[in-house]
Amino acid sequence: MSQHRELKKVTTESLRLMKGKGRKIACLTAYDAIMAQLLDEAGIDLLLVGDSAGTVIQGLATTISVTLDQMLYHCKIVSRSVKRALVVVDLPFLSFQVSAEEALRNAGTLMKEAGAEAVKLEGGAVFSGVVKRLTDSGIPVMGHLGLTPQSIHSFGTYRVRGESEEEARRILEDARSLEEAGAFAIVLEKIPSALGKRITEAIEIPTIGIGAGPDCDGQILVTHDMLGLFTKFHPRFVRHYANMAEDMLHAFKSYADDVQKGRFPEEHESY
Ligand code: KIV
Repeated sequence: MSQHRELKKVTTESLRLMKGKGRKIACLTAYDAIMAQLLDEAGIDLLLVGDSAGTVIQGLATTISVTLDQMLYHCKIVSRSVKRALVVVDLPFLSFQVSAEEALRNAGTLMKEAGAEAVKLEGGAVFSGVVKRLTDSGIPVMGHLGLTPQSIHSFGTYRVRGESEEEARRILEDARSLEEAGAFAIVLEKIPSALGKRITEAIEIPTIGIGAGPDCDGQILVTHDMLGLFTKFHPRFVRHYANMAEDMLHAFKSYADDVQKGRFPEEHESY
């Protein structure tokens, strides 16, 4: 029997089937070639080229100033590095809010020039017209509800969303309207587990949780967070699967010490 992981390409349709079978969907973010190759080889089902690139790659405080050109750059690299995972790219702030036509042009550019297989946009019912315009034009769309980082200045806080029944109901209605507009999946960020479960049961498309509890159809984390590489803050929903910041710091210090003390390179490392 082949030792190799099954290489059947993940599509929006396979995600729908996974939900039907109760097979949980594993998602992580990717921004560069080596990471994308490793994530794909590890069997991650969906790679999100997230606008979190603004924080974990560019060192910014928010995702708001991330540009379409930057998403094009990262997405091009990721999409050509992947064989199996579905590649979804974030529509950055102000690339889809102005009009459905502008959203279509920008999303289309991400597909044509950067190999994106789907786009993600933040927001609910107010963007259902945009979602419909994109999906009618053959562009698969993933929604994103709950704590939507592009709106952080409107929220004014990183607190859990949907704790009151009124806000929970609004998020549920947003999920229904994104589904009706044709979205193929919805990211649910930082909401109570009970609401994650309620939405997951109420809609037929997969829910992908990040701090939305165990009942979502899949989970996503920012890769730099789960690797323990981005350590500025540590939300409760991030599990560290490695301590890469510590490991890298140790490696860099050892290298500096070896060079400064003349221990590197040795004869077998020279010509
Ligand atoms: O930009 C991003 O990485 C995201 C995930 C946190 C879902 O939107």
